Amino acid sequence: MEDLIKRAARDLAESKYAIALTGAGISTESGIPDFRGPKGIWTTNREAEAKAYERYELFLRDPRAYWEEILGLHGVYGNFREQIRKAQPNPGHRALAELETLGILKCVITQNIDGLHKKAGNKKVLEYHGSVNAVRCVSCGSRFAWEEVSLDQLPPRCKCGGLLKDDVVHFKEPIPSDVMEESEKEALKCDLMLICGTSAVVYPFANLPRLARFRSRRLFAGLDMMAPRSNVRIIEVNAEPTPLTHEGISDYLIQGKTGEILPRIVEEVKKGIST
Ligand code: APR
Ligand code: ZN
Repeated sequence: MEDLIKRAARDLAESKYAIALTGAGISTESGIPDFRGPKGIWTTNREAEAKAYERYELFLRDPRAYWEEILGLHGVYGNFREQIRKAQPNPGHRALAELETLGILKCVITQNIDGLHKKAGNKKVLEYHGSVNAVRCVSCGSRFAWEEVSLDQLPPRCKCGGLLKDDVVHFKEPIPSDVMEESEKEALKCDLMLICGTSAVVYPFANLPRLARFRSRRLFAGLDMMAPRSNVRIIEVNAEPTPLTHEGISDYLIQGKTGEILPRIVEEVKKGIST
């Protein structure tokens, strides 16, 4: 473990354009359960997972009923939102914020809707699956804070007349194009990708490491399996191996808790800088 931590610190210090990709695993030490880990929400409640697959269809079919549901939420999803509202960044989030302050980390692309990277101080954060802290127009793409939106009439509408939806991206819902394009640009630009606390099984997010590795969109369509491997350095920090580990997309996995490993990597980076 010590060697891998030193190696990651060296790789980060030598990088010109490092970015981080994160998932629910980085927020479990803040009291928010993940989805597919041993105590994950889907692992422990299949019914909730099935319901989550229906949520976007409800929005399309009956946006008023959708809004009534999300505003009156109890049960699993209601608790989840409550846990998010109360949560604070942990040492894992703060380590990534410090890497940004040191000028090493250029961007965080997260699947998390909890807003904890921004709370920890990261400036450049792409919220790939949206945020609980915002409402989005499904026509013009504008985003608003909840306080800016009147909920007197449901469903609420944007100034452009478009329907408003909470910014959280549900299963089967398209990823907002602005975040998707920006994320792909970052994945193509980076020379180091630090992937923290994700099972890397949800698409299209899980394509980003492959885009960085093969620099090829043709890969998505399975048209280019022989695409040359780029020399981008891809490092995973996760409690367990993922398909990225098994397929050799990542260069190495540091197995353990992000809240313990990331601060130690930052310490090593700082040691390197000071000597
Ligand atoms: N440190 C490191 N790894 C951890 C920790 C921790 N403290 N806690 C959990 N993990 C690992 C788990 O073992 C698992 O491999 O983090 C991973 C979390 O994976 P998921 O629960 O699948 O979460 P994520 O990859 O973010 O899910 C992607 O799926 O349900 C949808 O929209 C939701 O954004 C989410 C997406
Ligand atoms: Zn609009």
